[in-house]
Amino acid sequence: MLLVGFIPFFTFALGTWQLHRLQWKIALIDELEEKLQLQPLSLPSKINLSVIPDFVFRKVSLRGKWDHAHSMLLVPRVREGMHGAHVVTPLIRENGSTILVDRGFVSKEFALDSTYQQEEGEVEVLGMLRTSQPRNNFTPNNVPEEGKWYWTDVDAMAEYAGGEREGVQPVFVEQIFEGHAGEAGTRLSKGIPVGRAATIDLRNSHLSYVVTWYALSGLTAFMFARLLVNKKHSVGRKMPRFN
Ligand SMILES: *[C@@H]1O[C@H](CO)[C@@H](O)[C@H](O)[C@H]1NC(C)=O
Ligand SMILES: *[C@@H]1O[C@H](CO)[C@@H](O)[C@H](O)[C@H]1NC(C)=O
Repeated sequence: MLLVGFIPFFTFALGTWQLHRLQWKIALIDELEEKLQLQPLSLPSKINLSVIPDFVFRKVSLRGKWDHAHSMLLVPRVREGMHGAHVVTPLIRENGSTILVDRGFVSKEFALDSTYQQEEGEVEVLGMLRTSQPRNNFTPNNVPEEGKWYWTDVDAMAEYAGGEREGVQPVFVEQIFEGHAGEAGTRLSKGIPVGRAATIDLRNSHLSYVVTWYALSGLTAFMFARLLVNKKHSVGRKMPRFN
């Protein structure tokens, strides 16, 4: 009985904790949105890796040549119901280290036989600085030697692209696509990678946890109250028999 009475308080506390997490997350997203509005950075020739976490979601402008021979495909990826992959190509920066750029989505038919667009010569790229993305329990291990990448493991990808001896730094940029839907469609039909929108896409599921825990707290409180009332009644009913 004591245990059952404890549940409403316990779930209420969990709900309150998630409420704090929600406020924290909203503040974080606001901060990142602000960061995203800043002018694009141009990265130094050799990037200090220890400061990258402070610059996540900052816009960066890059210039260099693609190293298509070391392109990697992140699979499977879905864009508006279409199946395909994300193309990650090392960018050999002019007078600087080589870094990794997720150029965006191409559909399955272009990904399967690597017929997606492979620009030659000097390119300019506008992107967003990111880090390795968390994988969930269902994400398989990457198999670089078979060209199978399921999640962005920036260190392993930099190693695949040649590693330190080839001047590759484990820095990951997602290319931004600012065109409209029609343009994206044209690119998709030609196998030109479509980059991401310049938005903050952090998961924020705390609100649903808040609702769940508080609802559970209310429900268990109600059940506990009914239990108490029933007990009282049954005690009351039984009493006369013993008299
Ligand atoms: C990289 O940045 C950190 C933190 O700002 C600093 O302590 C460190 O000396 C820098 N490393 C290099 C090689 O500049
Ligand atoms: C890169 O180096 C070349 C030759 O050393 C120089 O002419 C060019 O201006 C440099 N580019 C940048 C962006 O610094």
